[in-house]
Amino acid sequence: MIRVITIIILTIPYNSGLPNKCDFISNCQESPEWQGRLFCDSNFNRRGKLFMLKCNWSPYPSSSTIQYKLHQTWWVNTTQTCKDFGANETFRHIAWYEMRADAVNTFWVSVLNSNHTCVKTKSFSVVPNVNCKAPFLQHAVQSSSLLRFQLDRIGQLRYRNTATDQWHTINVTTSLSTHIELPASAVPMSFTVQQRCLHQACFHCKWTEEKRVPRELIGAPDIIVTSEKLSPGKQRATIEWKYTMHDHVDEYIVTIQKLPRSCIESDIIIRAQSTQLYINLSIAFFNVSVIGYNEAGNSSSASAVLHPLTAPELPGNLFATYGNGSISLTWTPLFDNDFCVISWGTSYAEMKYEIPNERLQNYSIQGPFEKLKRYTLMIHLLDADTCMDSTHETTFGIAYIYVEEGVPRTGPLNLTVKNVTKTSAVIEWAEIPEEDCPGFLLSYRIYCIDTSRNTIYEVTVNSSSQRSYRLEGLTKGQKYEVKVSGMTVKGEGQRSAPCMFRTLTHDEGEFQVILLSACVGLMIAAVIVVSVCAYTLHRTRKLYFPEIPNPKHSQLCQIVEEPGAKVRLFHLIQPHEEEANYVNSNLEVILELTDTSLLSEDRMTNKDSKYLDQCTPMAHVPPKQDYSSMKSMLNLLRRLPHTVYHDK
Ligand SMILES: *[C@@H]1O[C@H](CO)[C@@H](O)[C@H](O)[C@H]1NC(C)=O
Ligand SMILES: *[C@@H]1O[C@H](CO)[C@@H](O)[C@H](O)[C@H]1NC(C)=O
Ligand SMILES: *[C@@H]1O[C@H](CO)[C@@H](O)[C@H](O)[C@H]1NC(C)=O
Ligand SMILES: *[C@@H]1O[C@H](CO)[C@@H](O)[C@H](O)[C@H]1NC(C)=O
Ligand SMILES: *[C@@H]1O[C@H](CO)[C@@H](O)[C@H](O)[C@H]1NC(C)=O
Ligand SMILES: *[C@@H]1O[C@H](CO)[C@@H](O)[C@H](O)[C@H]1NC(C)=O
Ligand SMILES: *[C@@H]1O[C@H](CO)[C@@H](O)[C@H](O)[C@H]1NC(C)=O
Ligand SMILES: *[C@@H]1O[C@H](CO)[C@@H](O)[C@H](O)[C@H]1NC(C)=O
Repeated sequence: MIRVITIIILTIPYNSGLPNKCDFISNCQESPEWQGRLFCDSNFNRRGKLFMLKCNWSPYPSSSTIQYKLHQTWWVNTTQTCKDFGANETFRHIAWYEMRADAVNTFWVSVLNSNHTCVKTKSFSVVPNVNCKAPFLQHAVQSSSLLRFQLDRIGQLRYRNTATDQWHTINVTTSLSTHIELPASAVPMSFTVQQRCLHQACFHCKWTEEKRVPRELIGAPDIIVTSEKLSPGKQRATIEWKYTMHDHVDEYIVTIQKLPRSCIESDIIIRAQSTQLYINLSIAFFNVSVIGYNEAGNSSSASAVLHPLTAPELPGNLFATYGNGSISLTWTPLFDNDFCVISWGTSYAEMKYEIPNERLQNYSIQGPFEKLKRYTLMIHLLDADTCMDSTHETTFGIAYIYVEEGVPRTGPLNLTVKNVTKTSAVIEWAEIPEEDCPGFLLSYRIYCIDTSRNTIYEVTVNSSSQRSYRLEGLTKGQKYEVKVSGMTVKGEGQRSAPCMFRTLTHDEGEFQVILLSACVGLMIAAVIVVSVCAYTLHRTRKLYFPEIPNPKHSQLCQIVEEPGAKVRLFHLIQPHEEEANYVNSNLEVILELTDTSLLSEDRMTNKDSKYLDQCTPMAHVPPKQDYSSMKSMLNLLRRLPHTVYHDK
């Protein structure tokens, strides 16, 4: 592969100090309209050596029949060599062997114009031996506060903040690597870099293509691995990660290794641009690691271990028993596979495995085994090829066993009390950490101590998966202390740190009920007072100002002599037949009004009834019906003056 560099000619006079004998027409002048029209491409081979110069020039403008001359000259010591080539075309390729490798070769084109005057272009010079290829940028990186560059040869380098046009140029001469300290404010910016050759014998150095400086990837992604059940023996894993420098990452590499690494080749390697992926896996321990890459390098690796699901769905049942220093595995149903991997261990980091070379019905694992540690045993079925790809493995069965159990060394964590009432409280707790529980947890035991009376309530929760309990029958306003312990087959473990709480003296809502009852009571009292006052006023008025005697009123006078005003008032609300006899034509209107008010009150009463029902056992609120009639009565009484008015 040959790298090609196009060079637009710039005339850099190479002054040998001697007259140029090759200018055979001494007065050949550079023409203003033509002088800059020679272009030469330098073609370098892989080692940066010039192997061909491809020169072309624009036609001379003011002439039709033209014979161009390409001149070439070089000096060795004080001897000048001249060559020229006539050309009808406007290009010529000069091969490396046509040039003097260790000297400055200078080229220009001349022509005789219509006035037979010689005009020429500016000249182009090159030393074929000198590598004038732009240096290669081996390394460019923006780390937190530094720009670091490394060239493969000396050269010139310039960089700018991508958002601006202002370049900063550096000559890379003695040391090929350069560090540029960035001002603190520039750190979040991105930078662009270019480089070109820098050699006194290179007359034409051109900036390379602009390149964005990649950012150094610092830190590691945050990885979260979760999984859910798929078909029996399989799970669908979700691998998600976050990385603060995500915008600078070209690609992530996700590696998934089954633990133990029974088949080295079975590592799954996935390249990803996004930050999430799903994969179907067998049910086992998997080490998932993620690394971010870009041109500047890679981030640190983040890894997480995917644990087998707690209640996986599996095609087979695996049973483990311990005896005589070995763990015996049996299973149902028997499988037909030729290959399986049996793995076991106390943690993902210490799993061992065996691949038996015969079809099995049972398997015995020889110790030594550690006591008080939970062993996880798994069988993965393989067929001859799938060792290459663990995604195709199926987990046949999983079993757990303790060679010898112990009691929990700590109590359950994070004991909390919730929903405290006068007589009950709900306690909740978290699991006992697995490393502190050297046995299968069978139940929890709850101790609740009444601190003043020193009485203890003990409850056993007969399930290791239940982690909350409602304590009932507590005394109100009493301080209690709760502790919880875990039980294994070996007995009870340490109790948890205590949790204190005090039962309520009044239940929530009780105050509201009391308040409401009080309000209702007051209202009723007010109603009664108002009724009595209104009635008395009415009576008094009639007593002292009986200007117009009306037989209708005679009934009222009689009634007043009856013991309870209340009875009379009820009469008013519920007009009876006989009452109707006393009313005049206006009464119809009054009754109508009364009915409407009663209806609206009924609606209100219904709405309030739920409170009243609650209230009933608590406070001595009159029964609902009484209340409603009282309210209706109040309403009626409000209208009473009107009645009087109409009567008049
Ligand atoms: C780099 O080298 C060139 C050519 O030798 C010179 O003209 C220029 O001043 C130098 N620049 C710096 C920043 O040293
Ligand atoms: C994973 O399993 C599901 C359900 O069987 C299937 O739809 C999906 O294509 C599988 N994905 C891969 C990557 O095999
Ligand atoms: C998981 O993989 C990462 C990266 O390869 C490695 O550093 C780590 O030690 C592995 N963890 C285990 C438990 O093998
Ligand atoms: C354990 O070994 C003893 C003798 O070494 C033997 O008698 C006994 O049956 C064995 N028990 C089991 C469960 O294999
Ligand atoms: C284990 O399998 C073998 C055949 O592979 C059988 O002879 C033996 O009885 C089995 N042992 C148990 C304990 O099932
Ligand atoms: C216990 O509570 C702490 C703090 O709230 C929490 O970080 C921790 O995960 C909890 N432990 C368990 C096992 O829930
Ligand atoms: C506690 O009370 C809240 C709200 O009253 C209720 O939603 C929750 O179910 C209760 N919790 C328990 C464990 O009883
Ligand atoms: C748990 O089981 C024991 C014994 O079988 C029993 O006395 C106790 O009441 C049970 N506890 C609960 C909460 O059911």
